[in-house]
Amino acid sequence: MKTTIFLFHPDIKTSRVNRALASAAEKAGIEVRNLYTLYPDWKIDVTQEQNVLKDVDRIVFQFPMYWYSTPSLMKEWLDQVLAYGWAYGSNGNALQGKKVILALSQGAAAEAYTKDGRYEVTTEELLKPLEAMKYLTGLEFEEPFVVSGTMNLTESELKKAAHDYVSRLQ
Ligand SMILES: Cc1cc2nc3c(=O)[nH]c(=O)nc-3n(C[C@H](O)[C@H](O)[C@H](O)COP(=O)(O)O)c2cc1C
Repeated sequence: MKTTIFLFHPDIKTSRVNRALASAAEKAGIEVRNLYTLYPDWKIDVTQEQNVLKDVDRIVFQFPMYWYSTPSLMKEWLDQVLAYGWAYGSNGNALQGKKVILALSQGAAAEAYTKDGRYEVTTEELLKPLEAMKYLTGLEFEEPFVVSGTMNLTESELKKAAHDYVSRLQ
């Protein structure tokens, strides 16, 4: 099964968590495509992205949570690449049966993302709009991989998260 990570981080050089996760995955031989680096001008090569996706069995979308959602290039990428007639609609079945893992980091602690917590909404609920893509595309979403509380994550916790990430993806 070919797994490819589609990494959406606007500034991977200043990233701590996503950089550590992506670099651990890369060291383990998993391909990481850093979309903000590939498309600094946001001119997404839709055909190229669709060709890459054709050969992938498991798509990992890796991103830091921004405003309870994804960084903006990820939304743009989804809007453009998952096109009518390719990903859905007439004969649009290119993604049918492919697996997806949403791998995200959150600055806030996990307790904040509970009904009684600070944000009164769960991570599961916040990910629903992304997971709803399954209805038109036939994508199959697996359990998300979430690293919470990045602001207070110790080095050993980060190391463990990177280790768990690689184990999950291998
Ligand atoms: C524009 C922006 C919006 C953010 N919004 C959220 C948010 O909605 N929820 C949250 O828990 N953290 C939020 N954060 C914190 C990031 O998720 C956190 O810094 C990131 O996951 C850490 O990963 P990194 O070290 O790879 O950058 C936000 C950060 C930025 C810069």
